[in-house]
Amino acid sequence: MATFPTIDKCKSNDRKSATVVVADMVGCLLRDDSSFPYFALIAFDVGGIVRLLLLLLVWPLSRLLYYFVSESAATRVLIFATFAGVNVSKIESAATAVLPKFYSSDLHPDTWRVISACERRCIVTASIPRIMVEPFLKSYLGFDMVLGTEIATYNGIATGFVCPPGVLIGQHKADALHKALGAKAQTDIGIGNKHTDIALIGMCKEGYTVPAKPTLEAVRREELPKPIIFHDGRLVQKPTPLLAFLIILWFPIGFFIACLRIAIMSLLPQSLAYYTSWALGIRVTVNGTPPTLAKHSIGCKNSGQIFISNHRTVLDAFFIYLALGYPITGPTYSTTRLLEFLSPFKVVRISRNREQDAATIKKLLQEGNNIYLCPEGTTCREPYVLRFSALFAELSDQLVPVAIVSHQSVFHGTTVRGWKAMDPFFFSMNPFPSYEVTFLNKLAPEQTCNATSGKTSFEVANYVQRIIAATLSYECTRLTRKDKYRVLAGNDGNVVRTA
Ligand SMILES: *[C@@H]1O[C@H](CO)[C@@H](O)[C@H](O)[C@H]1NC(C)=O
Repeated sequence: MATFPTIDKCKSNDRKSATVVVADMVGCLLRDDSSFPYFALIAFDVGGIVRLLLLLLVWPLSRLLYYFVSESAATRVLIFATFAGVNVSKIESAATAVLPKFYSSDLHPDTWRVISACERRCIVTASIPRIMVEPFLKSYLGFDMVLGTEIATYNGIATGFVCPPGVLIGQHKADALHKALGAKAQTDIGIGNKHTDIALIGMCKEGYTVPAKPTLEAVRREELPKPIIFHDGRLVQKPTPLLAFLIILWFPIGFFIACLRIAIMSLLPQSLAYYTSWALGIRVTVNGTPPTLAKHSIGCKNSGQIFISNHRTVLDAFFIYLALGYPITGPTYSTTRLLEFLSPFKVVRISRNREQDAATIKKLLQEGNNIYLCPEGTTCREPYVLRFSALFAELSDQLVPVAIVSHQSVFHGTTVRGWKAMDPFFFSMNPFPSYEVTFLNKLAPEQTCNATSGKTSFEVANYVQRIIAATLSYECTRLTRKDKYRVLAGNDGNVVRTA
């Protein structure tokens, strides 16, 4: 490999019609030279903590095989532990919804600079099977061809073995590319990092090597061709072997703490909830002051206000309730009965049927209830605010925007493909989860859509979306719940799971 120049020497101007081939994910396209975290993410997603433990147990064996036998044997062991007996559609789903976020935050800057300059982009991935990388490379990085190790399946279930010719290493890489491109095709740039990549890089007009430089900063989020707005999966951080070990140790402790937190918080009166949450290790910060509730207005006709916030987790309503100090009614989409049962405040079922919901909420407002609504209709983990449904603006002119930030360090308290009833548990299983609730000023009458302002409900909704995003320094998007479910679950999100 030493005979090839390093990748930082590769010119990236005038490459418009060039074809580039990358010899592997880890160490070439990614800065990281370990494939373990990506297997661990899949293992946890498809098989939970037990599968993750299994993978961690075989990891030392895999390292020994790597040093004393072969890279191929080391990879086969990880593939077997992660995939044996798993439904292939679950693996594909995890590769689409969970992994892109992690790959994208570890892109090698020099390799990406060269690849992004070339028109045709190919990869031959060995240590991470094709099934785990194809969705990311094709939909986020514009790769045309993804070749790689193929996992063997039987009736839609992965056997844990690999298809012939096995893990694509050495001459197998060159053969795979040859077969895919045809005999005459010539590749312009080849990028590799191991001596076994020479067969592949030798086929190209120019070859470059990617030296291991762990201090190099990964490609920043703003420089990606397509930002990752939606992702799924429970783990927040990339599970290196050490972190996977700590997560496994923490899991039973965390689960116990979560049960304790939820039980206490759902039983306590509102006045004590704020201090109790701090005592339980949940950090709650409240900025701004909500409008005070005049005593006489309780029970008055049409006195209810609507609190509108961006949506970070299923617990948003709870923390607004906690910060508010007076009663509030939150909506629920009849998805999680367990949550309704645990909720210390009143919840109403709404149905995603516009007329029906409008009538329900209007009635509650007229009875003097304060209502909490999240017009995004779904949670978003990244610094974006999704499009606001304009319904709230038609229901009342007593509107209080609330900006919400939540922080989870180990587990995400949201899911698309998983079991939604577990969301509050996963949130509470973090060592020190935190919430920041910022009450903004109540909208002035001319900012709402009452008879004199002449504003449409859409203008009001967009305005509220903008000021919430501005408060948080988040970006507004026009994406909706439908887009999220299409990206992550391949459906439009109307599949209702009950728990
Ligand atoms: C795999 O999962 C899909 C989707 O959940 C399901 O339709 C299919 O029947 C499963 N296959 C097997 C073999 O269980």
